[in-house]
Amino acid sequence: MEDISLTDYLDYYVSDIMHKDQRIVYVVVLDPKGRVLSHSNIKEYGKIYTDHITKQALKATDITVQKTTDNNGNEIVDVAAPLKISTKHWGVCRVGFSLQEVKEGIRTLRNEIISMIALMLMGSLAFIGIFAKTFATPLIKLAKTMDQITEKGDLDIKCPEPTPRRDEIGRLQASFSWMVKRLREANKEKMKAFDMMCQTEKMATVGNLAAGVAHEINNPLGGIILCFKNLTETDMDEKTKKEHIEVINSGLIKIQNTVRELLDFARKTPITIVPSSINSLLEESLNLADALLSKKGINIKKELSQDIPLLPVDPNKIQQVFLNIIINAAHAMGDRGTLFLSSKVEDEMCVISITDTGPGMDPEILARIFDPFFTTKKPGKGTGLGLAVSKAIVEQHGGSIEVISKKGAGAKFIVKLPIKGNEKT
Ligand SMILES: Nc1ncnc2c1ncn2[C@@H]1O[C@H](COP(=O)(O)OP(=O)(O)OP(=O)(O)O)[C@@H](O)[C@H]1O
Ligand SMILES: [Mg+2]
Repeated sequence: MEDISLTDYLDYYVSDIMHKDQRIVYVVVLDPKGRVLSHSNIKEYGKIYTDHITKQALKATDITVQKTTDNNGNEIVDVAAPLKISTKHWGVCRVGFSLQEVKEGIRTLRNEIISMIALMLMGSLAFIGIFAKTFATPLIKLAKTMDQITEKGDLDIKCPEPTPRRDEIGRLQASFSWMVKRLREANKEKMKAFDMMCQTEKMATVGNLAAGVAHEINNPLGGIILCFKNLTETDMDEKTKKEHIEVINSGLIKIQNTVRELLDFARKTPITIVPSSINSLLEESLNLADALLSKKGINIKKELSQDIPLLPVDPNKIQQVFLNIIINAAHAMGDRGTLFLSSKVEDEMCVISITDTGPGMDPEILARIFDPFFTTKKPGKGTGLGLAVSKAIVEQHGGSIEVISKKGAGAKFIVKLPIKGNEKT
């Protein structure tokens, strides 16, 4: 009678716990030997549990929590409470909680966190995008334009369009455009002033040095007059006549050359730009000077790069430059010597060097060689215009010419010409 009422009580107790929480999958009451006294599943009544969890739960003096799985592999947390009245151990009550719902909760929470992070990331990206478009991109464009102006001095570059924005960046863009505009104007004014200065300087030089030119003209003129007088006033044989006419002829050619060079120098002759091969111009200049070079037994060495594009130059003028330098070198070297010609591309410039093994120059001479009419040659042998004209031609092409030389150590003339057109007419 007592037993029956205890079992009923236990069943009532078990079914009460089962209804308390949806996550409870089973409730079982076991006696100290592991026999099922009451179970939420009626089929389990009377069975004796010998599994590990039951053994642990029966052994324990306090509540134990263990993890297990049901027949379908679902995870369950088994909470076992020992049933004790004072020192008497009546058995154990085990309640199984399904972990499915907890897991689903965790999964949902994880998904929510991931969505939130993704949303935040997208927000940050959008913010970065807007920031870049509003602040960084205009600044990068300005910096690029500035670089181009400072590195290449290219004032014709297109400036970023100033925007109507009123913040610091808008003000920076406006100031920058204004600055470039002013620089362009200043550059134009500078070029105009420079051209005028060159022209004035040339005219002044021509005027001042008329005496020097008079010498260049007077010498052959003296010879011409003398020969002409002899021809008209004295009887002479055919051979002497021929010699006299020859002297008159070469004298006239000398005068003509001096006057032409002088005019070339004084006049601002425009240049005619044609895509030209620098190596071919060097070769042609060598051919023109061939008679002089081979007469002196000068050895020629060449190191001409094949990677040089066609250059926008006036081929006649540039050839005149090369010829001037080559003839100067030949004159300087006397008998024997080596002439070394090289061409290459460096920093968007075509670099041509013409080196000789002549006597070189001391610093005083070196400082004056580009001055018009400066010559160390004997009167009648040189006008001293060759290098002055060459320098003017190279600069007209936007290039430069420099010399490296030491007394007794030869001379190296370096001509640099821009690969992209930069010519001033
Ligand atoms: N390769 C060289 N080695 C040594 N001196 C040189 C060399 N090239 C030029 N010079 C010096 O520079 C001077 C000026 O040269 P530039 O070509 O202007 O005139 P020039 O040769 O004297 O006369 P021309 O007008 O007939 O060319 C020369 O007289 C010479 O003293
Ligand atoms: Mg010369």
